Amino acid sequence: MKKITILGSTGSIGTQSINILSKYPNDFKIIALTGNQNIELLLKQTTEIKPKYVVIFNEIIYKAKKHLFDHLEVTVLSGLSGLIEVATLEDVDVVINSVVGNIGLMPTLKAIQAKKQVAIANKECLVTAGEILMKEASLHQVDILPIDSEHSAIFQALQGNSLKDIKRVILTASGGPFRNTSREAIENMKASDALKHPNWSMGRKISIDSATLMNKGLEVIEAKWLYDLSIDQIDVIVHPQSIIHSMVEYHDHSIIAQMSLPTMEIPILYALSYPERKPMMFETVDFVKLGALTFEAPRRDDFPCLDLAFEAINRGGLVPTVLNAANEELVYAYLKNEISFYDISKYVEKAMNHFDIRQLTSIDDVLVYDQKTRTYIKEILK
Ligand SMILES: NC(=O)c1ccc[n+]([C@@H]2O[C@H](COP(=O)([O-])OP(=O)(O)OC[C@H]3O[C@@H](n4cnc5c(N)ncnc54)[C@H](OP(=O)(O)O)[C@@H]3O)[C@@H](O)[C@H]2O)c1
Repeated sequence: MKKITILGSTGSIGTQSINILSKYPNDFKIIALTGNQNIELLLKQTTEIKPKYVVIFNEIIYKAKKHLFDHLEVTVLSGLSGLIEVATLEDVDVVINSVVGNIGLMPTLKAIQAKKQVAIANKECLVTAGEILMKEASLHQVDILPIDSEHSAIFQALQGNSLKDIKRVILTASGGPFRNTSREAIENMKASDALKHPNWSMGRKISIDSATLMNKGLEVIEAKWLYDLSIDQIDVIVHPQSIIHSMVEYHDHSIIAQMSLPTMEIPILYALSYPERKPMMFETVDFVKLGALTFEAPRRDDFPCLDLAFEAINRGGLVPTVLNAANEELVYAYLKNEISFYDISKYVEKAMNHFDIRQLTSIDDVLVYDQKTRTYIKEILK
């Protein structure tokens, strides 16, 4: 039986993880859950699952709402120290990291150092510190198993093959809600429009990232670190049906793709069961009904965040940290209708040029420049 901590259990990936794990009660036991603001859901999950630990990240909410857990046999923790504590518990085997944002970095690092397997959805920490995290994982002989559907697809296409035989990987993108919208119309699109993703139901931040194509840019960087690729080995194509979740082309020009109807439960379960494949109740792909799988080039001029991510990783060092921190702050400002769609790419680029630091020596650098960039963006937005 695998014992599991779920960081971000109240989110989109967190709730889907609980849902799929609950179908295999003899294989998985949830030891710890964490949330930030959605205490009602965290309380419901705690009542049903009976974990040993629960973390309310937000300290103010923790102080105000901790008493709601008093009647349950659970230790209630708070803040980053709480996340780190439940990510490193002695009786936990696997940590699912499904918090949103670079706040997931230190719990991931500490989990790796405590020799926990990490099933990773939190892409931001791989964008900012992928090089350090992969080195630590190798040093501590720990698996980092992808939950992101594209990276799970690559991982699955790699089984039985060798990283050195990869010619390129092809990351597929749905194109997001504005795939067919003119640039003039996109300029005036509000967050409420951007949140309407055609194929996936996801958290608010990643939904905006999908609309700007920053999500695909972050995934390019994530793939680079997970699979030790050079950036010119990574292509992005738009595949609106979201059936092929990504592909690997080998030096003999064979291309292996992984397909399914869009659901995150398949990659979540695979990450937790690997190297086994567990049977799962889910609809199968009806190719005849689908009729066609189509592909197109991303509209790079109209969605500049994609090229900004390529630019950030090409410059290297702390530039991806700056890209990510600026993007996080700008996405939350856009969600509050404080800025327009193209302000996101405009100010991400401005931040990358302001902090154009091409060395990364330690995790502390990442934390410092993450904060500096957030302060810089907040100043601009004032
Ligand atoms: N959703 C998907 O289909 C999908 C697919 C691939 C990858 N991902 C990646 O998975 C991660 C999570 O995405 P999501 O869509 O599940 O996000 P989400 O629905 O917004 O959930 C985020 C989770 O993190 C918690 N959280 C938010 N801010 C926090 C903070 N400052 N400190 C600690 N916890 C915090 C939230 O708590 P409260 O809700 O209690 O506030 C929630 O549990 C992201 O990195 C995303 O890019 C998501």
